[in-house]
Amino acid sequence: MALCEHRTASDEAALVRRSGRLRAVSPMHQPVNATTDHRILSSGRPLVADVRDLSLTFETADGKVEALAGINLQIAEGEFVSFIGPSGCGKTTLLRLIADLEQPTSGMLQINGVSAGEARLRRAYGYVFQAPALYPWRTVEKNVMLPLEIMGFSEAERRERARRYLALVNLSGFERKFPWQLSGGMQQRASIARALSFDPALLLMDEPFGALDEIVRDHLNEQLLGLWDKTGKTVIFVTHSIPEAVFLSTRIIVMSPRPGRIIDVIECDFPRERTLEFRETPEFVRIAQRVRMGLRSGHSYDE
Ligand SMILES: Nc1ncnc2c1ncn2[C@@H]1O[C@H](COP(=O)(O)OP(=O)(O)O)[C@@H](O)[C@H]1O
Ligand SMILES: [Mg+2]
Repeated sequence: MALCEHRTASDEAALVRRSGRLRAVSPMHQPVNATTDHRILSSGRPLVADVRDLSLTFETADGKVEALAGINLQIAEGEFVSFIGPSGCGKTTLLRLIADLEQPTSGMLQINGVSAGEARLRRAYGYVFQAPALYPWRTVEKNVMLPLEIMGFSEAERRERARRYLALVNLSGFERKFPWQLSGGMQQRASIARALSFDPALLLMDEPFGALDEIVRDHLNEQLLGLWDKTGKTVIFVTHSIPEAVFLSTRIIVMSPRPGRIIDVIECDFPRERTLEFRETPEFVRIAQRVRMGLRSGHSYDE
């Protein structure tokens, strides 16, 4: 847990600082022909993430840890893709590879037609961690403004964006509160506002509601769906909850135990607008069963 929190704070800083530095050095960075590299999926939408034969083996003092093996995945703009799999199967590692917080041992990864490192410089990633990672000495508004400060946005723009994104996550009126004055669910909404504040192409969410009770989680799932619909963002979401994955996703990627491999890819052709009652429908139950079967088939049962 301590390692995890440490990772969260330093990763947040890494994601934002490198983005900030670019602004200072080269504000005109976007190449004119950036779109020429994009592959277009059969859906006709541009490809946001293109992952080919990606593997990562960690070298540790106790030997090698093969975290991910042979991952192939394409994600189109506007999708909501969930990774689901048993604890330790490499979900976080895959998200970190996409965000350029880890480097692959082999394989290829492109985001919006450029390397993950380049995408990071272009502020492609908004990252929401399991712990809200808000600074307790800053107000909610000032927490949302932090990445914008580092990126060099003007004071007026920072304030306007903080107000706008806090309203988007239904936190209007809480701008001047401190994080510890908010509930866990509200804190997580504030961290979503912070991740969206600089308008990243991709919203990466690592079990963002995993520490919350089920009723709060249900409510946040509904809100997140609305947010996704309103903003049109591409979301990559990690969870180990089957109902959460099925309720939220346009596509579910089922992963095997470590080394994580993709064992099933499930398209969910649900209407964009849906309420929690949707979980009672036969389509929902059918997809949830398929996810469960995938998770079972990948399980070694030796624990
Ligand atoms: N920096 C690291 N060094 C060594 N091993 C790691 C590192 N990060 C993750 N791992 C290992 O890689 C595997 C996958 O971890 P992780 O991606 O966190 O799994 P998940 O998010 O699916 O629970 C685990 O066995 C974990 O211990
Ligand atoms: Mg994880």
